[in-house]
Amino acid sequence: MQRAMELVVALGRIYDADRLIPITSAHLSGVSFKTIGEGGLDFLEEMSKDARVKVHTTLNPAGMDLARWGEMGVEESFAQRQLAIIKAYEKMGVTTNCTCTPYITGNAPKSGEAVAWAESSALSYVNSVLGARTNREGGPGALAAAIIGKTPHYGLHLEENRRPTVVIEAEVFDEITDYSLLGHAVGQRFGAAIPYFKGIRPDCNGLKTMAAAMAASGSVAVFHVEGVTPYSSSQDLKGLERVRFDHQDIKKAKESLTTGKDPDLIAVGCPHLSQMEMKMLASMLDGKRPRSDSPEVWFCTSRTVRTWCPKETAVLERFGKVVCDTCMIVAPIESRHRCTATNSAKACNYLPSLCSQKVVCAPYAELMGRIA
Ligand code: F3S
Repeated sequence: MQRAMELVVALGRIYDADRLIPITSAHLSGVSFKTIGEGGLDFLEEMSKDARVKVHTTLNPAGMDLARWGEMGVEESFAQRQLAIIKAYEKMGVTTNCTCTPYITGNAPKSGEAVAWAESSALSYVNSVLGARTNREGGPGALAAAIIGKTPHYGLHLEENRRPTVVIEAEVFDEITDYSLLGHAVGQRFGAAIPYFKGIRPDCNGLKTMAAAMAASGSVAVFHVEGVTPYSSSQDLKGLERVRFDHQDIKKAKESLTTGKDPDLIAVGCPHLSQMEMKMLASMLDGKRPRSDSPEVWFCTSRTVRTWCPKETAVLERFGKVVCDTCMIVAPIESRHRCTATNSAKACNYLPSLCSQKVVCAPYAELMGRIA
């Protein structure tokens, strides 16, 4: 607890926070053995000797499906370390349902609540769509806040730092991948801005993929969508730069992310698939036959959503694996795959650097056409 307090106070001093404020929940990144390595495992085992979280705390995806890792081709030594990481979190009282969409599966902060969330896509969703408040926490900072039950009061906890800095006038998009690519283009152009979108009406799936893409290509941690996100109507847009994004920008983003041709893995679910997306994919594939030349296929989702969707899971499993607890980025796919196709701009962004992959960026319909 002392170490956690030291970390929280050090962060508060760096950012000139005036005090600590109580939080209602935390979400932790730094779960996959691939990303945190031996050093991370040692740190967590040390902390778990006597530290316990004080608030509802959830975990990001791990490096493998915790039940079916053998089928994923994960090596025994990796699996044992990954399971030790989960055990350490469990000991600290963390809910070990590893997903980057915990707001779908039970950790959904209410508007105005202060929380400490890591995972850039999830924290942006929580700030923007749910109206709760969190800074862009790192894994250790979020864990320390969860142990103390408090976080420093600075940055995005302050109203004045949540106001839009640029207006994006976007054409209406209808495919979920378009929202991902729009997010990518905006994040790439404006970095850490707070965009205010006009002209689009994404549903919660569009919002989650847009949030993920903007956080990956830029470092957007909060955004507003006119008539959609909760605080959009109270924003003052006077004097802000206005920039138009159209189908041409989406096309360019897609082309710039595509670096390969023949995927040996098709992976969707970045961020993790919602129930609605599971249903949509199952309806696209139901009644069809798997193509004989189909590459390996992963539908990445949370264990909870998989449990909620038994019929859809049965359909999807005829074409590939409904993989839980992990994703195409934090799993060690580089040991078995060279080229991955996905509809997520965030995944396209990270696949080359974190997984040594060539990338094919394509919408759901095109990806499903490659497998059925
Ligand atoms: Fe989630 Fe992995 Fe994408 S953690 S947002 S599915 S990179």
